[in-house]
Amino acid sequence: MLKGKDILNTAQFSLQELNLIMNTAANFEKRVKSGEIIRNMEGQVVASLFFEPSTRTRLSFETAANRLGARVISVADAKSSSAAKGESLADTIRTVDGYADVIVMRHPMNGSAQIAADNASHPVINAGDGTGQHPTQALLDLYTIRKERGVLGGQTITFLGDLKNGRTVHSLGYFMALCKNKMIFVSPKSLKMPAKITEDLRSRGAEIEETEDVEKALSVSDMVYVTRVQRERFEDPEEYEKVKGVYVINRAMIKKAKKGITILHPLPRVDEIATDVDNYEGAAYFRQAHNGVYIRMALLALISGSI
Ligand code: NCD
Repeated sequence: MLKGKDILNTAQFSLQELNLIMNTAANFEKRVKSGEIIRNMEGQVVASLFFEPSTRTRLSFETAANRLGARVISVADAKSSSAAKGESLADTIRTVDGYADVIVMRHPMNGSAQIAADNASHPVINAGDGTGQHPTQALLDLYTIRKERGVLGGQTITFLGDLKNGRTVHSLGYFMALCKNKMIFVSPKSLKMPAKITEDLRSRGAEIEETEDVEKALSVSDMVYVTRVQRERFEDPEEYEKVKGVYVINRAMIKKAKKGITILHPLPRVDEIATDVDNYEGAAYFRQAHNGVYIRMALLALISGSI
């Protein structure tokens, strides 16, 4: 179903495909945890091109490829590749396409993943394109929701923080709509979810509420997805200073929130979740980061046709 496909955005997925990816990830998780050596991608090469900072996404992709028996070639820093000499993205991709069987790329420009896919014969996975999309993060978010809540749909989720620049919420919104969850968007006025995305989600049948009142939102939410204010996307540092600490989730707020609320965050966190929340049992963000390996194993194996 997914063999040979590019993974560029979350609007592209059907429920059937999501279920296939979730089930494949669960199977890999079980096998890895039982100590099995898995070799589905033996003999294949995965290119990991990161032209923007990353810890979790790059390392979990590379871990996933290694755990499948593939070899990894990587650019971990734009300064160390020929991009720094002025090479176009199209030319870099045409070159790497001759080396690797799958290309994973993070790049600061919106739409860069599509450019990469247009210039590669092998499948391209978007590991974050500017303020655009981050589909593999949304897949691991959904896998985490399935594990933490036992269901994919019928819940209320609050998206909190920088909804304008945060690519993770742009991506997850489509899965929440597809799985029929209600969404509440909470952000400062200047960091609202782009109207184009909100309208697109509504046209897909999503129920969405927008507010600045975080306590009210949390009192009716089964989950809250907290995001970092994306400092690197601000042209004016003063604008960042104005909004950076506007919403901070702490233990006292959890007490007033809906009982059993699940707290998600793609990480890295700066100060938007106080560390006193970390030992709350519904704080799922580090478990969420670990889930990335199994989701990325599933994706790599499925699109390379190794399963
Ligand atoms: C996110 C990203 O890069 O968009 N990080 C991640 O991949 N887990 C979120 C962020 O940087 O705030």
